[in-house]
Amino acid sequence: MAYEYENFLVEVRDHVAITTFNRPKALNALNAALVADLDKLVDELMADDDVWGVIFTGSGDKAFVAGADITELAELNAINAPKYARELQRVFLKVEEMTKPTIAAINGFCLGGGCEFAMSCHMRVASKKALIGQPEVHLGIIPGAMGTIRLPRLVGKGNAIEIILTGSFFKAKHALKMGLLNYVVDPEELIDKCMEIFQAIFKNGGLACRFALESIHHGLTMTPREGGNLEADLFGLAYATEDAREGLAAFVEKRDPEFHYK
Ligand code: CAA
Repeated sequence: MAYEYENFLVEVRDHVAITTFNRPKALNALNAALVADLDKLVDELMADDDVWGVIFTGSGDKAFVAGADITELAELNAINAPKYARELQRVFLKVEEMTKPTIAAINGFCLGGGCEFAMSCHMRVASKKALIGQPEVHLGIIPGAMGTIRLPRLVGKGNAIEIILTGSFFKAKHALKMGLLNYVVDPEELIDKCMEIFQAIFKNGGLACRFALESIHHGLTMTPREGGNLEADLFGLAYATEDAREGLAAFVEKRDPEFHYK
């Protein structure tokens, strides 16, 4: 599939779409045109059978995404700001609900809407050079793309309050300790580390991975009992797949399973 976007570059390698935010002159800040591109791009990535997983990263050597475009934020008022926030939230929720696994490969500044985007991805791997934060309060505003909602779920309430109320830029190593990141690696190893994670995922039953992803995502906003019910239903659904028959038989027969990841 040929991906043609003004604000993104896409290269598919070993079934992984390496998707690059491409507004380097503005440190890949999220303006309306870029968000509209992202909205369409997610649909295209989901429809592409050759793509089994997605890496999101930033172009240039400075930034992943330095936040929402502040020149656009400066034009908002109390009436249209909620509409602006809801549109960003809609697109980020679409990213979060992708049923193909995603990794944010954080190569530099990951601030405000950039950090909120990274939290919408399923996993986060950062370069040692990355600086991460929610500096909205420096501008007299608050996060609007669900930073106040996703951050406490990832790092706990105390860490989330420190990150959002100080607006500080945190080094990747510290963000790792807080639980915001899966790994911190040398800058030149960033994409390789993400590819390594995907290689481990792609060895498994693809439908099983998808059902697990759905159960984790929806389970987080359910009561334990409701989540358990959803998990039991998806557990049953997994049994309806050829992969379950193959995986269970392979263990009993003491051989490696042959799954068809898709
Ligand atoms: N929006 C628009 N333009 C931005 C931008 C942003 N978020 N971040 C950087 N840029 C632009 C700069 O204006 C500059 O453009 P010019 O060359 O035309 O002047 C260019 O990118 C390079 O940036 P700097 O010269 O500032 O680079 P630096 O290395 O000196 O500083 C930085 C880097 C510390 C990241 C600094 O650019 C900065 O503080 N950026 C803003 C970060 C921020 O506050 N993000 C949160 C936005 S609010 C938000 O995201 C709301 C939400 O929740 C949805």
